[in-house]
Amino acid sequence: MIAPRRALREVFPYQPGKSIASVQRELGLKSVVKLASNENPLGPSPRAMAAYRKAEKSCGLYPEGTSPELRAGLARFHGVEPESIIVGNGSDEIIRLLCEAFLDPEDEVVASQYGFIRFKQQGSMMGARVIEVPMTDWTHDLALFAKAASPRSKLIFVANPNNPTGTYNTQEEVEELLAAVPKTALVVLDEAYFQYAAAIPGYPQSLPELVRRHDNLVVMRTFSKAYGLAGLRVGYGVADPELIGWLDRIRMPFNVNLPAQRACLEALKDGAFVKRSVAVNDAQRVVVARTLGEMGFGVGESATNFVFARSPQPGRKLFKAMLRQGVIVRPLDEYGLPHHVRISIGTAAQNQALFGALRRVFAKAAA
Ligand SMILES: Cc1ncc(COP(=O)(O)O)c(C=O)c1O
Repeated sequence: MIAPRRALREVFPYQPGKSIASVQRELGLKSVVKLASNENPLGPSPRAMAAYRKAEKSCGLYPEGTSPELRAGLARFHGVEPESIIVGNGSDEIIRLLCEAFLDPEDEVVASQYGFIRFKQQGSMMGARVIEVPMTDWTHDLALFAKAASPRSKLIFVANPNNPTGTYNTQEEVEELLAAVPKTALVVLDEAYFQYAAAIPGYPQSLPELVRRHDNLVVMRTFSKAYGLAGLRVGYGVADPELIGWLDRIRMPFNVNLPAQRACLEALKDGAFVKRSVAVNDAQRVVVARTLGEMGFGVGESATNFVFARSPQPGRKLFKAMLRQGVIVRPLDEYGLPHHVRISIGTAAQNQALFGALRRVFAKAAA
């Protein structure tokens, strides 16, 4: 057997949330509610889907590799130059490109103890040393990040708000981090859940403001969450054009497919859909947090479309019992949190299904 690169031996594959189809297949269930991957329970914007269907006619042709129309739309939307933007096959691809472009073996990646796990996985794949910074109150401690950064630190990853803890950092904290780290380190602000946190006083105005002022900052956003387009796989990064140029050089030639480019451009114009999605989430998150609290969960504050909670039962046990009830939640063993779960906020009906399933699971456990 041919041995893979040494760095790969340390890497554990990402465990995605279980899919509805796999639960239906494995347990023979008809109706399954998935609250495991922080998708938008309203699905995609109908306007975006109309653009997707219209693109059908052009599917015999390669898409434009640099996603120029989508980049131009994003540039207008954010008040930056198109050259400051790279579009990826999910923001996951941008994480990969950043690691491939900037990490030599033995360089350092600074990431949070319970920060989004893909940063650590992708950094280790490049043979980089991953420095894990402890959290304070389930929140990134950016003062400790600054202390941990050394001249060898190349990438400093901050998911804001964070997955899986749902907490956020303020503009002041982010600015202090940017002021404190060596200019040879690139700060990556992953704002996958931006729309859910944007109205919180003190949440950073990263675009265009912070990116204009700092050429060692990349901001990432995605169409997978509030835009409801996770299945299309589109995310993007915004940074200094020179830096974006390095990522562009190594991306796959046609990394974002044509209907996805068209649908995302239209999704950007449908601000009303995003507004409605955030409003539904805000209202339902209160109900979910309160009801889970009444059932004995320790629920944290969340600036996102999910809750992070200490579970009355070990997370994996609860996950398995809930699968049999047709509800998929997310255990957090891979984060070293065997007593915690992450549960996405659903529609009112989906959340009622969640509560019913939990009641049945807890009643069985008590019997
Ligand atoms: C913090 C964070 N960043 C990035 C991603 C990746 O999103 P996508 O690749 O779908 O854009 C996720 C998805 O769960 C996330 O939670």
